[in-house]
This record gives sequence, C-alpha cells and structure tokens, in this order.
Amino acid sequence: MKVTVVGAGNVGATCADVLAHKDIVNEVVLLDIKPNFAEGKALDMWQTAPINLYDTRTVGVTNDYTKTANSDVVVITSGLPRKPGMTRDDLISTNAAIVKTVTENIIKYSPNTIIIVVSNPLDVMTYCAYLTANFDSKRVFGMAGILDTARYRAFLATELNCSPKDIQAILMGGHGDTMVPLPRYTTVGGIPVTELVAKDRLDAIVDRTKKGGGEIVNLLGTSAWYAPGAAAAQMVEAIVRDQRRIFPVCAWLQGEYGLKDIYLGAPCILGKNGLEQIIELKLNNEEMDLLNASATAVKEVCSVLDTMNAAASK
Ligand code: NAI
Ligand code: 2OP
Repeated sequence: MKVTVVGAGNVGATCADVLAHKDIVNEVVLLDIKPNFAEGKALDMWQTAPINLYDTRTVGVTNDYTKTANSDVVVITSGLPRKPGMTRDDLISTNAAIVKTVTENIIKYSPNTIIIVVSNPLDVMTYCAYLTANFDSKRVFGMAGILDTARYRAFLATELNCSPKDIQAILMGGHGDTMVPLPRYTTVGGIPVTELVAKDRLDAIVDRTKKGGGEIVNLLGTSAWYAPGAAAAQMVEAIVRDQRRIFPVCAWLQGEYGLKDIYLGAPCILGKNGLEQIIELKLNNEEMDLLNASATAVKEVCSVLDTMNAAASK
C-alpha cells in the first residue's frame, strides 16, 4: 500500500508521521512545492523508524508527481492559511488554484486513488477537488469532522475528568462556526451525555467546539496540526485496513438529509472503496434547522468557486 501526502507543512508532515507510526502502509510519499522541504522532513521521519520500530518508508519529493504514481490514497494538505488583509474570496481563489493543480497532477499518476482533502476552506476545497478529479464521490471527500468531534470529545473528557476513549460522539455540517455538534448522539461509556453534564455546561462545550480552530490560532498564531494530522491519518487507516469505521466525513450529499449537490459533514462508513455509505440519522427539527443553516453557509462559499470557474471558462 502506498499513500501520498501533498503539502509537507504542519498538517501534512504530522499526517505522514502518524501514518508511519501506525506501520500500516509500505510507503508514504510526502510532496511539497518548496525545494527540499519534503525531502528533509521525510528523511528525518525515516530516521525515527529504528527508534520507533516501524517499516513504513517515508520518501520526500519536490513537486515530482512521478514518485506519487499508483498511490492508493492521497491526502491533500497544500494551501495557504488566511493572511492579514486577505479576504475570504482571496483565500478561496488562491487555495482552489493550488488544490486544482495538485489534483490534476495526482490523478495523472494515480487514476484509481482515493482523495482526502484537508486544505481550507475545507468544504469548498473538497468540492474543488471533486470537480477537478471527476471521480465518483466515493473517492473524493474531506477531513474536518473527525477533528471537530475530537475537540468536542476532548473538552467533554476534561469536563467529566474521564477517559476520552469512552466518549462517543458525532457532529455534522460544515467546517466552521455553523458546524452542528449533536449532544443527543453523544454518550460517555454508553450513558447519554445529557445525564452527566448540565445543559449550560454542555452548551458552553458545544460553543467552544465551534470555535475550536480559532482558539488554537489565538494561542499559536497559526492553525492546529497535531489533531488535524492525526485525524487525516485515521481516515487513511480506515481505508487501507478496510475497517468500515463510522466517522463524520465531508461527503457529497445527493438527497441525504434533504440536501443535494453539496459537500457537507455527515456520518459515513469508510472502507476499502473509500466512502462506503452515508448514514442518515433521524434528526429532530432543531437539529435539522442547524444543519440547513450550515448547508446554506457552505453553499454560499461554494458559489464563490462556481462564479470563479464560470468566469475562467468564458
Ligand atoms: P503549512 O503552511 O504548514 O503547510 C502547507 C504546505 O503546502 C507548505 O509546506 C507549502 O509549501 C505547501 N504547498 C503550497 N502550495 C503547494 C503546491 N502547489 N503543491 C505542493 N505543496 C504546496 O499549513 P498547514 O498548517 O499544514 O495547513 C495546511 C492546510 O490545511 C491549510 O489550508 C489549513 O487551513 C488546512 N487545515 C485544515 C484543517 C481541517 O480540519 N480540514 C485543520 C487544519 C488545517
Ligand atoms: C482548524 O479547525 C483552522 O481548520 C483549521 O484547526
């Protein structure tokens, strides 16, 4: 098994490192546009193999897509973070250009691969990769929900002073302030969380989860990488080991939840074919209203990309 991670920055390098530690694939190719950057990181990782006792070979390349040929899974993390003075539309156009070029190169050498997008704005960059690859949507999806749910579960573990391992949760919607954590589907060791955490505390945790990305940016001056990298690696593992795990995934909805032609976070089964199934929960009216509001926000951002693409094709 071979996995390529595009972008050897904070998230991409972490994803490659976590994957290597899992020892579940033969080779991880790390590709970056910055000369020698991926080579240096991959070599440093490979030198941990005798210490950490794994066999996965990490290989770094500078923009050489021939080395990515026949990848089973590709994780796209290349992209710029939003800089001061940059509008949201500027970020979309810059990162969409990167994701488009990267996707074109990837599919040229790995026409049967499965693509996991991580670059932001996540929902629209996943849509961009899907439009570019022209693959079945089972083979193009995005990572955000595992990260957002992990934040929610970590905050709950702190609140309850219990093991994060025992907290099961699902979260839906777009990767942003409109995401929809679902306390009704959250359990702690099988006990509904609503029986263990008071409503005002739970509301505060949900609110903190929605702002979880921003909290790290405020602390570090850049966005998170440990949890995002680990989350992307967990998706890769579910695919390469055909685990059929259930995760929130940014998936192409075609009527599920009454939503169509939109990439949005929903519970999915991941296995050897990529996105094996989208699970439809019976949301109540309040949850459905929140999901619809999130879908509206994501559609608005995607329409920026549609307008840019329409202008470019004139
Ligand atoms: P970073 O700046 O550390 O790394 C990005 C890397 O992409 C850089 O090394 C850069 O040289 C490379 N790159 C740029 N253009 C490229 C191209 N055309 N081909 C190959 N490589 C290229 O950024 P970081 O922190 O790793 O974040 C990466 C992306 O992931 C950002 O868009 C960020 O907003 C997003 N992100 C998404 C999350 C999610 O939940 N979906 C969570 C955290 C970050
Ligand atoms: C995060 O949620 C910024 O998407 C990035 O950490």
